[in-house]
Amino acid sequence: MSKLLVTGGAGFIGSNFIRMMLSDSGHEVVNLDTLTYAGNLENLTDIERHPRYQFVRGDIADPVAMEEVFATHKPDVVVHFAAESHVDRSVLDASLFVRTNVTGTQVLLDKSRAHKVVRFVHVSTDEVYGSLGAWGYFTEDTPMQANSPYSASKAGSDLLVRAAVHTHHMDCVITRCSNNYGPYQFPEKLIPLMIANALEGKQLPVYGDGKNVRDWIYVTDHCAGIRAAMERGKAGEVYNFGGNAERENLFVVKEILRLLGKGEEQIHYVKDRPGHDRRYAMDSSKARALLLWEPKHTFEQGLRATVDWYLLQRPWWERVRTGAYQDYYKQQYANRC
Ligand code: NAD
Ligand code: DAU
Repeated sequence: MSKLLVTGGAGFIGSNFIRMMLSDSGHEVVNLDTLTYAGNLENLTDIERHPRYQFVRGDIADPVAMEEVFATHKPDVVVHFAAESHVDRSVLDASLFVRTNVTGTQVLLDKSRAHKVVRFVHVSTDEVYGSLGAWGYFTEDTPMQANSPYSASKAGSDLLVRAAVHTHHMDCVITRCSNNYGPYQFPEKLIPLMIANALEGKQLPVYGDGKNVRDWIYVTDHCAGIRAAMERGKAGEVYNFGGNAERENLFVVKEILRLLGKGEEQIHYVKDRPGHDRRYAMDSSKARALLLWEPKHTFEQGLRATVDWYLLQRPWWERVRTGAYQDYYKQQYANRC
């Protein structure tokens, strides 16, 4: 069994991945997260005392702190989720995106090489490929044409990982996935924002004409893909993961309202996102053929499960919306560290 250093494990996808690793594998997990606004230890309360889990607070862009983390924990594998992940925030200020996504990734690559990490899994995004017209799909060979500061910073990190393989012969794999949804997603992203607003009787802000298309994937299907790439991926390779579920934003919003039994009068068209990518769609045939991976959830199953989760876990997202979740670290961890 291996020791995994999971960066960004207090976020949405990282916390789902850690839960999967603790229940379905014998690996030890060290969760390294600096706890930005998106880092929420309440995503992990059910496993925080698991004997194979520990949490370490640290900033991936701080080389001194990372030296201590790698020297102390001696990970075999790094699974790198930590990032600034919200496109709208990158439009307002790109600086943190460059620091975390670009510099932070290089610091982790340097420490992984120095401490002889056997495999580095870099979790990236379909957004590095840019935007599609009405037809076609992104393959792993599609040129990177990132359009937002967020996706440009992720594309930069992907190139640094590629360079580490080429120059230093590091064993790295890159995964690129489409839009995730499911439990523990921060309610600033489309699906959880719309569910929470609908339940609170607020307006549902749809950007532009609402006809932008995303390829939606249930979060545990993405986590299974990352695991497959970690276990069966080939060094230097890129693997695309998509949900095979292209939907227009307006369709998604209307489905959420229908599942909640709410009326469409809550929909409110607002000014479009600057540089808004029109369509993403993934060709995942490489991952299907070589990693023996496929998504298990249809969009209808996944959305139903997600709406049910947000209905049941209302205290979780209410504490996020009020900011109360940020006290959890002080209450539960600060005295222990
Ligand atoms: P998220 O915003 O929910 O979580 C990011 C986590 O990283 C947070 O816990 C945050 O505290 C942590 N973090 C941020 N800066 C850090 C730093 N300097 N040091 C240590 N930790 C730091 O993000 P997510 O949606 O879970 O996405 C995780 C990864 O997956 C990202 O790399 C993202 O680019 C990628 N991705 C996301 C999606 C999606 O639809 N959400 C799709 C494809 C790829
Ligand atoms: O494609 C993968 C990417 O998906 C990830 O790399 C990113 O980390 C993740 O945030 C996500 O990016 P998007 O910009 O596609 O996700 P977001 O949920 O912000 O928006 C989805 C679509 O919904 C997009 O077309 C913009 C639109 N939107 C979003 C919000 C928040 C609205 O119309 N209204 C909104 O309020």
